[in-house]
Amino acid sequence: MTRSIRPLVAGNWKMNGLKADIAIAAEVAKGYDTVLKQGVDLAICPPATLLFTTSAALIGARIATGGQDCSTQNSGAFTGEVSAAMLADAGANFCIVGHSERRTLHGETNATVMAKAEAAQKALLVPIVCVGETREEREAGKALAVVKKQLRGSIPDGATAATLVVAYEPVWAIGTGLTPTAADVAEVHEAIRAELGRLLGKAAAAGVRLLYGGSVKPSNASELMNVANVDGALVGGASLKADEFLAIARACNG
Ligand code: 13P
Repeated sequence: MTRSIRPLVAGNWKMNGLKADIAIAAEVAKGYDTVLKQGVDLAICPPATLLFTTSAALIGARIATGGQDCSTQNSGAFTGEVSAAMLADAGANFCIVGHSERRTLHGETNATVMAKAEAAQKALLVPIVCVGETREEREAGKALAVVKKQLRGSIPDGATAATLVVAYEPVWAIGTGLTPTAADVAEVHEAIRAELGRLLGKAAAAGVRLLYGGSVKPSNASELMNVANVDGALVGGASLKADEFLAIARACNG
């Protein structure tokens, strides 16, 4: 954790959730008590179809919501796309961009991810820009180089702590139950902070929230959240269970 940074635990529901599952969000809201509220921010990123209702259900609890992706475009003839302005209009505060599932399955390049992050910022959403290496890249000793290149290519110029969140999600740790060692997470997060310093200036970089994502569970959350420069978590599978998501939030609350 970074003392001066208020941590954020964000749940990425991915392509899961029907309207009955808004009950999960409501249960998270019930468990977000005064102690948690004092120390940690929460956000839930449901599928776009549930964003409006989920945002309405969470506003009283001061839990944010986010989209999982957005178009690079604001509006127009782009069938099937959802713009950042639409997500904001549905109540979102954040938008995940450049998730490895988008980079891999939808061929998103760093340039696309940067354009999406800029579109999100234009709509006054805070982009959660995801970076992370594959297993082959880690085994070849290239993890830091890959992550730095992704940052250089996908972080908008002029971003600040208020307009940017970065998530380090090693591809091989997503949905696998595998996690890097605390030392490996520390090494990458330190490198991310340093690279952001070069891109945005030291002062801005010092306040940007750096989330770790990839198989975060209640059982490993304390260890991961106590790593230097880890300012919260981006949680996939465990965010679909209110008790697990809240347990991770408590681990983040020190
Ligand atoms: P899991 O927590 O299911 O590994 O997913 C992580 C993730 O991809 C969050 O964006």
